[in-house]
Amino acid sequence: MNNRQARLFAIGSTAVAAILFLGMTLDSHRQFPTLTNADNITPEVIHGKDVWHKYNCINCHTLFGEGAYYAPDLTKITQHRGEAYLHAYMRDPSKFYNEQKHRRLMPKQDLSEQEIHDLVTFLGWVSEVDNQGWPPRPILVTGGFSQAATHAEAATAPPADSNSDPRALGESLFATAVPTCMACHSLVPGADGAGPSLAGIVTRTEVLLQSDDYQGQATDVEGYLHESIVNPSAHLVPGDMYSAGGTSFMPTGYANSLTDEQVDQLTAFLATLK
Ligand code: HEC
Ligand code: HEC
Repeated sequence: MNNRQARLFAIGSTAVAAILFLGMTLDSHRQFPTLTNADNITPEVIHGKDVWHKYNCINCHTLFGEGAYYAPDLTKITQHRGEAYLHAYMRDPSKFYNEQKHRRLMPKQDLSEQEIHDLVTFLGWVSEVDNQGWPPRPILVTGGFSQAATHAEAATAPPADSNSDPRALGESLFATAVPTCMACHSLVPGADGAGPSLAGIVTRTEVLLQSDDYQGQATDVEGYLHESIVNPSAHLVPGDMYSAGGTSFMPTGYANSLTDEQVDQLTAFLATLK
């Protein structure tokens, strides 16, 4: 390459890079309105953000991965936990503690009901922002369970490796359902999160169905598992951290978002957890 060619090459490649950069910048700007969910910023959302700052939630938590790393990222918390849980949690976080686990605790903030309402609205808005996978994984403290932990335990279940086996399909649905069951349930004995560990659910349910404590309609274990998914409040697992006022904190939407077949697959999978 002589000098002239080298100069042309340098100018040419700079021009191509500049055009690419400009194009991508324009394209990003074109997408910002939908990605940022900006249209849905209501006065309540703004007030919720003020409450978020007033109580310095950011000193411990992150949103979009920004903030302090003492406590879980809350970007998608509304999807992972639901609004009923968030209301109850902010009223009194101490109800959700399990002292045996020596976890980091959240101080009670003494928020007013209005502040809680606005905060939940704000966090709901945040959760609708298309963060394109950032932060890369939900950083959950209270019971975010890794797929590895879930699978290690499931390996003790009867072989369910065929793609058409309902138990295998149910096992993958356990991770992929929206919201994912794993955000709240582990399959490790004793590892309760926002929902109880489902290890040993079959044996536990057999005992429950024999007792007077059972409040639902099911007559056998599979019926109970099915009912737990489509109608979580039919029978409540005792504990202030699991329900309030007779309503479970487990999302109620699975009856609509999952097909009957999928619920059967999940039931078949859970029925292997003796
Ligand atoms: C002093 C630190 C601190 C402050 C300030 C704080 N939090 Fe927390 N928060 C925590 C910790 C630690 C946890 C996890 C507790 C656990 O593991 O049970 C938590 C948990 C939560 C959870 C439940 C997360 C889950 O995975 O279920 C929510 C919701 C929450 N905080 C919201 C808030 C909001 C809103 C504020 C501001 C009003 C706030 N926090 C202020 C430390 C804090
Ligand atoms: C936001 C957290 C959350 C998510 C997500 C969630 N659950 Fe739950 N689940 C709970 C809570 C809380 C309870 C206990 C209260 C109750 O009885 O409903 C529960 C109870 C259950 C029970 C009964 C447990 C027992 O010990 O008797 C089953 C079975 C269950 N869930 C299955 C599922 C499945 C399957 C999914 C995914 C399709 C799922 N859950 C998603 C929170 C959750």
